[in-house]
Amino acid sequence: MSILVKNGHIVTVSEDFVGDLLIRNGKVEAIGTNLSDSEAERIIDATGKLVMPGGIDPHVHLDMPFMGTFSSDNYSSGTLAALHGGTTMVIDFILQTQGKSLNDALREWRARSDGNAFGDYSFHMAVTDFNDETAKEIKDIIDKEGITSFKTFMAYKGALMIDDGQMVGLMKEVKRHGGMVTVHATNGDMIDALIAKHKSEGKLSPLYHYLSQPEVTEAEASGRFCDMANYTGVPAYIVHMTCEGALNAVRSASVRNQKIFVETCIQYLILDASLYEKDFEGAKWVMSPPLRQKKDQEALWAGINQGLIQIVGTDHCPFNWYQKLMGKDDFSKIPNGHPAIEHRMELLYSEGVAKGKISLNKYVELSSTNSAKIFGMYPQKGCIAPGSDADIIIFDPEKEHILSASSHHMNVDYSAYEGWKVKGKTESVILRGEIAIDKGEVKVEKGYGQFIKRNKISKIV
Ligand code: URP
Ligand code: ZN
Ligand code: ZN
Repeated sequence: MSILVKNGHIVTVSEDFVGDLLIRNGKVEAIGTNLSDSEAERIIDATGKLVMPGGIDPHVHLDMPFMGTFSSDNYSSGTLAALHGGTTMVIDFILQTQGKSLNDALREWRARSDGNAFGDYSFHMAVTDFNDETAKEIKDIIDKEGITSFKTFMAYKGALMIDDGQMVGLMKEVKRHGGMVTVHATNGDMIDALIAKHKSEGKLSPLYHYLSQPEVTEAEASGRFCDMANYTGVPAYIVHMTCEGALNAVRSASVRNQKIFVETCIQYLILDASLYEKDFEGAKWVMSPPLRQKKDQEALWAGINQGLIQIVGTDHCPFNWYQKLMGKDDFSKIPNGHPAIEHRMELLYSEGVAKGKISLNKYVELSSTNSAKIFGMYPQKGCIAPGSDADIIIFDPEKEHILSASSHHMNVDYSAYEGWKVKGKTESVILRGEIAIDKGEVKVEKGYGQFIKRNKISKIV
């Protein structure tokens, strides 16, 4: 199919102009003004609309076994909800089971994902058990599978956490083969001690989830991670950063000319810890790390404009209310995570661009281009340029709407943003040259989403 998107306000990380876009055979073919209508089978009039690269969310958990249950969006519902919101590609996490191999985990995840996605996807490989056998698997995971980022957890002891010796060993091996190490940077031992203390005192409500993970637990682990990455020289990335203290650890690393890539998530920019004061309703926002204070939101917005934070993701990890109720009498049993995959692009526009906190170009960087660059997909993904995949969103910057569980497409029975008024709406979405969402209507089928192999990190960072 060929499509001509006419008279749109085309935005990339460096440009911002009114023009036309010709799409053919899944790729962007030409960008210009007054491109001829006769070139295309389908014309889309984008007058007054923003035309931007499709969103890439590099932090989602679909159909993931976690805390005794599974996250409630699978690859179909999750990637479809993402498309509705303007996210054309996600990067999910494979979790190695301690005692088993990375390849076992890869097979398990591909059995759930392949043939089921509406939007494009890739994986990070979470290494939860680094040993001599795991080390041997790293090269092929990168070279043959095109999975070039390795996730680590400094918390969730007994399930996902690795110790510092394993971290350094993994970093050396990943660096040798051209990959990147990413981290959930919180101090697991400190957190476990605080959880035990609160439980022994009978403090069992969601508020104590928050109070068991104070800022210092994230700041300390972030600094330690930066030091280990500096020692090994591995390309390094911190996921879901929430607070000023952790950001300052990265700022300190930058003083010695070390580059640490940083992702925050939309919720940490716009929600705060006062939500945990709502008794058990606070379980809707039980996630790790927890929501923080207003001063942390300000630090994160500043960090974005200072170039210390490159990406805004979601850490989408939804659970239905009956699943959250698993922790009704004990906050430590509430499955951690909240739903946001569908709302990231619109919330970031509404709270960021429309409120004057970030520029349109910065919006494109944070929501799409930087993920493609950092995770080895640029310029195939994350940009509007001749030869790139035609992953394009047509976005109405003026349209106001209200977020609600009654209208969202995610497979979860509550909204973490119920009643939020949002300015800006994804109108249509093109994925690899096919119209995927046409003014809210789904035009592609389950299975259209492809697994995207990624390049070595060392080539692009
Ligand atoms: O609460 C969260 N973040 N759940 C998903 C797992 C993780 O730590 O990212
Ligand atoms: Zn995490
Ligand atoms: Zn996560």
